[in-house]
Amino acid sequence: MSSSILQILNGHVQVAFEALDLPVELGRVVVGSKGDAPFQCNGALAAAKIAKKSPRDIAASVVEKLAGNPDIESAEIGGPGFINLVPAAHVLKARANGLAQSEMTGARPADKIQKFVVDFGGPNVAKPMHVGHLRSSVIGDSLQRLLRFRGHSVVSDIHLGDWGLQMGHLITELQEEQPDLMYFDKDIVDGYPAEPPVTIDDLARLYPLASGKAKEDAERMQRSRTATAELQGGRAGYRALLDHFIKVSIAALKTDFGALGVYFDLWKGEAAVDPLIGPMVEKFKQDGFTEESEGALIIRVDEETDKKELPPLILISRAGAALYATTDLATIQDRRDSINPDTILYVVDFGQSSHFEQVYRAAGKTGLFPREGLEHIKFGTVNGKDGKRFRTRAGGVMRLSDLLSQANEAAASRLSEAGLAKDMDAEERAEVARMVGLAAIKFSDLQNVRTTNYIFDLERFTSFEGKTGPYLLYASVRIKSLLRKADNLGVELGEICPDSEAEKKLVLTLDSFNRALAQAEAKRMPHILCEHVYNLAQAFSKFYADCPVLASDIADDVKSSRLALAELTLRQLILGLGILGIETPERM
Ligand code: ARG
Repeated sequence: MSSSILQILNGHVQVAFEALDLPVELGRVVVGSKGDAPFQCNGALAAAKIAKKSPRDIAASVVEKLAGNPDIESAEIGGPGFINLVPAAHVLKARANGLAQSEMTGARPADKIQKFVVDFGGPNVAKPMHVGHLRSSVIGDSLQRLLRFRGHSVVSDIHLGDWGLQMGHLITELQEEQPDLMYFDKDIVDGYPAEPPVTIDDLARLYPLASGKAKEDAERMQRSRTATAELQGGRAGYRALLDHFIKVSIAALKTDFGALGVYFDLWKGEAAVDPLIGPMVEKFKQDGFTEESEGALIIRVDEETDKKELPPLILISRAGAALYATTDLATIQDRRDSINPDTILYVVDFGQSSHFEQVYRAAGKTGLFPREGLEHIKFGTVNGKDGKRFRTRAGGVMRLSDLLSQANEAAASRLSEAGLAKDMDAEERAEVARMVGLAAIKFSDLQNVRTTNYIFDLERFTSFEGKTGPYLLYASVRIKSLLRKADNLGVELGEICPDSEAEKKLVLTLDSFNRALAQAEAKRMPHILCEHVYNLAQAFSKFYADCPVLASDIADDVKSSRLALAELTLRQLILGLGILGIETPERM
């Protein structure tokens, strides 16, 4: 694999710094910021302080050292002492052909390979999913794809919410409807049927029914709480029901997530770690990490440097129940013992920041898992145009399947507005609309800096213009069609000779792929990759407008060079979109 253009220039500038007895690391080359030159070195400013000279004088000596270097077309001083760098044509050419030969179009594995668990999705059994779960799924999925692409080993886990009060609600409501089921008979402790007594529609109906009643009626609420406690206490019939509820929910969720193109290695949940809780809590007690407080068992997690008070983590409530933080700690133990990851990423909204801070500190303090290996990958909320949290048209919480069919519809009408996919049969057109809809939803989420909120606007997301998923699909389809035409005309891929400005710009953009991937990984920020694929599509668009590829008056070697550049662009675009979880159609 050839070195990146930045690495080549970096090498030369560092040698120049060294020759001038300046610290080598100050000769670092970065991407140009103001568009004057593709690259720059800002080290003369810091070097000036050390050498007690003016930055421009230092920059001038560096430029002098670089003079005549065949890899550098120009090195010029800008502003207070920046060194603006333009690589020589042969450097661009060699790199372009190196990228074309690379299967991964220049992407390299991470320097340090790690083992990750990515905890994302996190829907709650029987409760409808909300947009927060959608964001978590889309961001978490792109992170797992990115990490795998970079060579890391990744285990993803949906971490279902299947251990709380909602289970007590389901059990008690089912009992009201079908009191004769054997699960409710305390004297029966085994021999339950393998067939579930409920469907997913039953669950979707029973939960809101029960929680609605419980809100109005304290006695009804108490019954749900008692059932939850009995379940957690190990009552056999309830455990058997829980297993049914979980199985039925997972089957439905697999369909929903499958439609979203999101997959998990593990479908575990809070309930799965129940057997670990007792011994874990006992050990914490013995090791002296716990305290009794107002009847509850807690772990103090506040630190002297805290600006805001962090309340203690409640391990066991006054009522004797294990809580959300308890199952999260037990899950860390489970992952440590069964997977042994270096890092666990939790892709969960901002609202749970204190919860995770408590859990991470407790894990560190008790020696369960190193604090630095636990990361909360926070994200903001999705709002409606009214600035409030996004709801569906009916005003209720979203169902993933409804959202996807809305996106699908919007995509289909956008396609016909734009006169695309006209000559296709209904089946192919529907398939294209599906991909456009998904690309719209995913890209519009991922392109935001994940910590910010954004406004849900299907109209805008499905547009073929602007920074959208559909625009990127269109860009890739355009290249695919160019390649098909070239194939028909018998034009072959050849050596790339980037001559025009647009070609050079495109090569520079292609060259930056690995940097974008590395940064997106380091910051756990998919938008950095979105930025890259968007820049790539734009650079291609400019190139395609300026440089005809197949026109009859173009020399054969130029045709082949431009075609190879287009083919390389397409491969990188598809790789980049793939990491974002976005598939591209063959045509539209
Ligand atoms: N089920 C939780 C919720 O809906 C999200 C789970 C996040 N993951 C975790 N390990 N706590 O809020």
